Amino acid sequence: MDNVLLKIEDLFVNAGDREILKGINLKINKGETHVIMGPNGSGKTTTANAILNNPEYKKQDGKIEFEGKDITNLGTDEIARRGIFMSFQIPEEIPGISVTNFLKTAKQQVTGKPIKMFEFKEELKYNMDGLNMSSKNIDRSLNVGFSGGEKKKNEILQMLVLNPKLAILDETDSGLDVDAIKTVSKGIQMFKDEDNAVLIITHNAKILADLKVDFVHILVDGKIIKTGGEELIKEIEENGYANYKNN
Ligand SMILES: Nc1ncnc2c1ncn2[C@@H]1O[C@H](COP(=O)(O)OP(=O)(O)OP(=O)(O)O)[C@@H](O)[C@H]1O
Ligand SMILES: [Mg+2]
Repeated sequence: MDNVLLKIEDLFVNAGDREILKGINLKINKGETHVIMGPNGSGKTTTANAILNNPEYKKQDGKIEFEGKDITNLGTDEIARRGIFMSFQIPEEIPGISVTNFLKTAKQQVTGKPIKMFEFKEELKYNMDGLNMSSKNIDRSLNVGFSGGEKKKNEILQMLVLNPKLAILDETDSGLDVDAIKTVSKGIQMFKDEDNAVLIITHNAKILADLKVDFVHILVDGKIIKTGGEELIKEIEENGYANYKNN
């Protein structure tokens, strides 16, 4: 058995009638933390959606494997059941479903097992304490009327509760206060172990400050044009993407 979790080979993806991804190659092993950075509109969110096989994004060519099995054309629910979690750049609001019930149902769907409310609440409390989240919001409708930072915290809580093998976090670059940035970072640290992996899409180097990042990929115009270590984060912060644009 090798340690490869995710393998993307020569992936080409269209959105609408435009070609967005133009040959993505990416390999993520167990235990690794990967970061994708790149200019607005370069295809970062599209890459995440293509992994989850969101039907809005049409794969033209290439292959995605997870734990050695082809998942390129599986349904999104099945991909989630196999152990891939994605946190959205803009979290969804679901009126009428409380945070607690949403998380419990999501966990039941992913594990395929009934979950006892008492134990579930204990688990929730443990994770919320770790994230410094107040429990006063857990009976409110999911994300309805929640602030941007609170929505983000809900998503990180969801990641901890679902405990996927690969967590893909598509971060917004704006609207997170210092506290929310710390929550995201802390949540990743609570989640991460030697058997799982994280793929963080971000413009915000602060989220990465307390994390051990193994690989940084720079995505420009639908292609990963450079892969390096943590030093790339600093370089991008200082110089932007000017050196990488237009081949
Ligand atoms: N459903 C869609 N229909 C048409 N075009 C789309 C669709 N989704 C994405 N695009 C286009 O694909 C390109 C890449 O978008 P994507 O969201 O992947 O960028 P990104 O790298 O995540 O950018 P940002 O840093 O702003 O989040 C953009 O030009 C976008 O307008
Ligand atoms: Mg995006």
